[in-house]
Amino acid sequence: MPRINTLGVLTSGGDAPGMNAAIRAVVRTAKYYDMKVMGIRKGFEGLIHGDIFEMSARDVSDIMHRGGTILQTARSTEFKQIEGVRRAVSTSKYFGIEGIVVIGGDGSFRGARDLCTEGLPAVGIPGTIDNDISCTEYSIGFDTAINTAKEAVDKIRDTATSHERCNIIKVMGRASGNIAINVGIATGAEAVLIPEKEIDFTRDIAEPISLGKKRNKKHFIIILAEGVADSGDLEKRIEAEVGLETRTTILGYVQRGGSPTVVDRVFASQMGSYAVELLRDGIGNRIIGVKGGRIYDIDIYEGLDMPKIIRDDLIELSKILSI
Ligand code: F6P
Repeated sequence: MPRINTLGVLTSGGDAPGMNAAIRAVVRTAKYYDMKVMGIRKGFEGLIHGDIFEMSARDVSDIMHRGGTILQTARSTEFKQIEGVRRAVSTSKYFGIEGIVVIGGDGSFRGARDLCTEGLPAVGIPGTIDNDISCTEYSIGFDTAINTAKEAVDKIRDTATSHERCNIIKVMGRASGNIAINVGIATGAEAVLIPEKEIDFTRDIAEPISLGKKRNKKHFIIILAEGVADSGDLEKRIEAEVGLETRTTILGYVQRGGSPTVVDRVFASQMGSYAVELLRDGIGNRIIGVKGGRIYDIDIYEGLDMPKIIRDDLIELSKILSI
């Protein structure tokens, strides 16, 4: 593939803190190498409809510390159809875009792969608070999200102890328990319920609560991933069947916003810069990831075919430490 002189950048899917740092790194690295960068607003939606503008190094000043994405984002339904993908490719050609950086989760990477298949080289940068992309150990936004949740759970624990209550804290992750399990370990939760593992009310909730009471525990913290169960139903069932007063907190979108942590800013900066270097050298159709703590890249088709990893070791650790 020949060297690329004009690239596009977009953010897609759910936003994640640190996306701005990645956009900044893409723009600044491109400028460093005398390349032209086109910012695409609202993800693939903007690519289809030509919501595209040229970006300068100053357009990304003062954004590193801000959550969200200055390019905005969307989950495009039009882009799920092949006609939408083809339209996006022809709009790219019209704007002179020869290669594209897609910052998002695995749904966005499937979109990037379709662009590659239709002839527009793309490089994916993992950006999702869920950290559920198989080919990378890390995705931008995860560290900020789990730290936000950790702070909330620490506060809830104070009041849980005062009242000797059970507190359910619902965290994000419709299809992934990564946030829940990490927050559970970090906050010493008594139970972590994740979508990857089937729940048995007696084994996972009722028995541990009874055991905890016998061991003189003063509270019971349950971290519930969004995709598992209705928190209201669970609350009622615990009160009825275990006889423990229970309260629920749904953390929701606070986990998606806020100023990114150092970890997120540094990974985002490295990945953004690396994506541009790949395209500059004429290398497309890649996903950037972290492997063994280092930035690497993998073929986009291969990366998307990798099986999901379930961290049984962390699930086990959480159980061992919650006695
Ligand atoms: O993928 C990130 C995420 O925040 C998930 O944890 C959550 O299930 C989903 O997005 C919510 O998406 P939306 O904001 O589009 O409803």
